[in-house]
Formats: sequence, C-alpha cells, structure tokens
Amino acid sequence: MCGIVGYVGSQSALDVVLAGLKRLEYRGYDSAGVAVLADGGLASARKAGKLANLEKELVERPLPAGATGIGHTRWATHGGPTDVNAHPHLDNAGRVAVVHNGIIENFAELRAELAERGHVLESETDTEVVAHLLAEEFSGCAGLAEAMRLVCRRLEGAFTLVAVHADEPDVVVGARRNSPLVVGVGEDEAFLASDVAAFIAHTRSAIELGQDQVVELRRDGVGDGVTVTDFDGRPAEVRSYHVDWDASAAEKGGYDYFMLKEIAEQPKAVADTLLGRIGVDGALTLDELRIPAAVLKEVDKVVIVACGTAFHAGLIAKYAIEHWTRIPCEVELASEFRYRDPILGGRSLVIAISQSGETMDTLMALRHARDQGATVLAICNTNGSTIPRESDAVLYTHAGPEVAVASTKAFLTQLVACYLVALYLGQVRGTKWGDEIRAVIRDLADISGEVERVLETMEPVRTLARSLSDKRTVLFLGRHVGYPVALEGALKLKELAYMHAEGFAAGELKHGPIALIEDDVPVVVIVPSPKGRSVLHDKIVSNIQEIRARGARTIVIAEEGDEAVVPYADHLVRIPATPTLLQPLVAAVPLQVFACELATARGNEVDQPRNLAKSVTVE
Ligand code: F6R
Repeated sequence: MCGIVGYVGSQSALDVVLAGLKRLEYRGYDSAGVAVLADGGLASARKAGKLANLEKELVERPLPAGATGIGHTRWATHGGPTDVNAHPHLDNAGRVAVVHNGIIENFAELRAELAERGHVLESETDTEVVAHLLAEEFSGCAGLAEAMRLVCRRLEGAFTLVAVHADEPDVVVGARRNSPLVVGVGEDEAFLASDVAAFIAHTRSAIELGQDQVVELRRDGVGDGVTVTDFDGRPAEVRSYHVDWDASAAEKGGYDYFMLKEIAEQPKAVADTLLGRIGVDGALTLDELRIPAAVLKEVDKVVIVACGTAFHAGLIAKYAIEHWTRIPCEVELASEFRYRDPILGGRSLVIAISQSGETMDTLMALRHARDQGATVLAICNTNGSTIPRESDAVLYTHAGPEVAVASTKAFLTQLVACYLVALYLGQVRGTKWGDEIRAVIRDLADISGEVERVLETMEPVRTLARSLSDKRTVLFLGRHVGYPVALEGALKLKELAYMHAEGFAAGELKHGPIALIEDDVPVVVIVPSPKGRSVLHDKIVSNIQEIRARGARTIVIAEEGDEAVVPYADHLVRIPATPTLLQPLVAAVPLQVFACELATARGNEVDQPRNLAKSVTVE
C-alpha cells in the first residue's frame, strides 16, 4: 500500500519520479505528490485523487527542474484522501520533505510532543510528524541519513520512509521497517522504490534492504554512493541482485487493462513456473527449497497461511497435499492465524503464499510460526521481498510482474507451485510412486495449452457477462476443489464489479443459502469431472436441478464431453477435461474473464478497483 519513489542522478527527477509513480499506482491511488530539490530549495506539489490530477496540477503550476526528488502515491490510512493529507509532508520551514508507506503507531504521542515545542502540523496523517522530527534532528547532527536513523529509533509500527533536505541537494535517504523498499543502481544515478517496477526502465541492478536499515543515495559516486546501515549507524551487509524481467513486462502491451494482459499471460506463466523443476528422469528437482529431505520426512502437519486469492490457492492445495502425501493440512486466513494460538512445533511445515511477498498479515503469521519452531516455506512471486527473506525456504512462482489489483496469473502459478510442493513431499516421503509423480507432472505440463484453449473460447462468456451487468447478485457453487474456485470467482466479481457475489460449497446450499435463490438469480456452478469422483459429479448435477427448480439462471462450467449437465444449463461454458485435482487451473479462467468483462460493462476501473491496493502492507 502506497507507492514510493526516490531519485538522485542527472536526469529530470520529476520525470523519473512521475514515471515511477505511474508504475506503482497499483499500490494506492487516493492521492499523489512529488518534491524536487532545485535552486537551493525544495519545491513540492500534491493532489487528491489519481496521479493524473497531480500531472494536471504540474502542468498548471510547474516545479523548477532538479535532479533529486521523491514521490508518493497513496492508499489512505490516517486521514482521508485530501490534498492536505497527500504526501510529501514538509516541516514548517519547508526544508525537509518525506513520503511514507505504513503506519506509525506512536504518532499521536509524537505529535503532542511536537506541538508542545511549537510545531504546527496541518494534516491528519501519521507521516507529518516524521518531517518535523527530521527537521529537528537535522539541525543538530551530521546530515539527513543520521537524522533519519535517530528518528527511526523513536518510531513504532511499520514504515518505509524516503526523505530529502534542501541543505543536502545531492542526497536521498530511505529507511524501512516491515514495509518494502528496494534500491536501484544505475550508471550515474540511483533509485529508491517500493517495487523494482518503478525503476526497471532505467536499471535492472537492484539491492535488497533488510529490516531496520537506512540507506543513503549520494549523487557523487552513485553506485558506490549507496550506503546502508542499521538504525544505530553500523554498516549493513548489502545483497545485490539482477531483476530478471524488463520494462516491457510492466507495460500494458496493447491491452486495455493490465488485467486482460495478465489473464492472457497465464499459459506462459504456468509453463514458466514448471520450468527447470523437472529433471531429465521426470522426477521433481526442487533443490532450491533448501529444506533437507530429513526435515520434510519428519513433517507431521502442514499449515497454509495466506490472504484473499492466495488463500483460495491454499484451500485448493490442501486437497492435493492430503491426497498425495497423507499429511494433515490446515489452511488459515493469515490475518486470523496468530490470534487463535495455533498448535505448531518443530515438525510443522507452514506454507506462506503471497504474490507480493509483502502482505503484512501473512508476514506476521509466518513470524509467529517461526517463533513456534515451525519450518516456513514461502510461495511467492516477488524476488527479494520480505516474506521469502524471512522464510526458511522459498519456491518462486514465475508469473512475472502482476500489476492489476485483481490477482489472476499469480493465482494460477501459486496453484502450480502448491502442486509441486505436494508432489515433492510425496516424492521425498515415498507416499507417491515415481511413475505416479511423472504422470501428474505430464498433466501439469499440458495445462499451459489447456488454458490457452480456454482463452480462445471466451467470447460467449464476455457476451454473457455484459448481459448480466444490471444484476445485483451472482452466486457461485462448487464441490471439492471446485468450492475454492467458487470462492475465487465470487471474490473477483466483488472486487471488480462491486456486486454482491458469494461462493458456496454446493452441498451447503440446503443448509441455508438456498433461500437466496429467486427468479433469474445467476448461479455459476463449477462441475467436477464425471470421470474422476463420479459421486461428486452426480451430486452437483442434483444441486443444479434444485436451484433451477427455484428459478435460478444456471451458468454451468463443465468439462468437454460432460453431457449430463446439458439439460440443466441455461448457459454452458466448456473447459478441457483435466484430472480432478488440477481442474481449478482451467475452471478459474472463465471466472476471471467473466468478472473483468462485467466490471467493464458497469464502467468500473478494472485495474484499480475502488478502496483496494495491490500490496497490503498494513494489518
Ligand atoms: C484479489 C487479490 C487479493 C490478494 C491478497 C493477498 O484479487 O489480489 O485478495 O490475493 O491481498 O496478496 P498477496 O498474494 O500479495 O499476499
């Protein structure tokens, strides 16, 4: 939540910062602002609403040109989305500017202290106190980096801070605790950003920052001019890495929305997540896991923690893990996990699933798990992010950057990664034969082509979605792995189309939700394969008849060749036949397309749904 950019170099800081903010707007779009150091002073502009409002303001009231600057795009926490609450925040003399992502928990106390000392704070934000504290510390110490260290030691909560001071025109300083910040190192320039997407057009060379670290970028000798210390000023070890995707991956590439592009990228993303993980003999080679086989053999319980769409991936993974390994598996919303005092120990394997790798709820859950002695494996899409860094091991999904707020390709690749982990556990523990594992891997390898085929047949789904744009409610039903798919379909529709949408286990319908069925309510039903557990298939066909008898308009997602559902489907969406456990990889796709099209028909902003942000770094 909130996107931050800092720049020092030889280009126009304003241009670099605005271009970076554009790439980070997915993180929040309640307001935006910039500050540049120029002509011995500091100039800033900020505006409520999307970045476009700020750009308009800058055309009407241009800032002077400078080569050092910072910027921010906000997801509001403390204080509404107004001009005054927009970042950057300045001290009273207008010499310091600061942008912030996170929450400073002791801000009320600090604010009262500052007021007593005569400071006048104009916004309702927690951030403004930092600008004032930095100004106070700066006057008595060795520079902005030292001032930042002193201030950070007084702050409680989670924060990324990036600041500039008019008296140090060649310096940008950043700090982080429990909130993301990466450094980009160019030829004669350097960057700070919440995400590498902000500077990928300039450099693919990045530095990870650890917890409780302060970084100083200096124009003189940029590159070598990057200094990282802890909050006490001790030099910190720096880990550099190369970003393995380029600027074009973070562009829309001719699509109207990132979401459409990301849906279309799924066949490749799925294939990429399998790449290099299957040996010549067809066995799995997940050496990157770095969890010794001896530890995996001893695991007596798997617990998956995740949020939102990643949680739905976890719910599906449970079926595969328990079926293939016979290890009990629990799946828990990360935001609930640590508050119920979960039973964990040295033999527990906790799997934290997160696209961004920064979700605070998931991070807190994994920290709790590690404190209890559990081994933590992250399934993550973002290299160098906090969740994999704090886990014992990581399996990266290779979905490439996901920019649209609604997760699509990350979901499919999280599923693939979960299947790989489940199979690997089965391989190491000997609960699955080699030829069984090879057969599942062959099926997984086919999925990329199957998803491609689904995408080629989506026009009727789009037409159907448009025809339902004035409905108030859409329900989703599934059984077995189709149940989490139903939850995911409902989540996509809620967040994008702002409609009442709910997913149910089809068997639960008769225990209450069937009362929601009335004339012409659209109900999407995900039908399991008739070839797998035929008992499941027969039961859901009965469920379809029950709701149809009560007036529902049935939208049936069923595999090719399933003729039993035809008489009961008002609309039939065909998906390729797959093994039962892998069906979510193809069944989720029409639901993504459905939600995207329905949202478009309702005139909603597909990539930036209201009230949401891509990376949720507050609890
Ligand atoms: C929904 C969506 C969210 C995320 C959730 C977890 O489309 O994207 O529900 O899945 O916020 O985010 P990550 O995976 O980054 O931890």
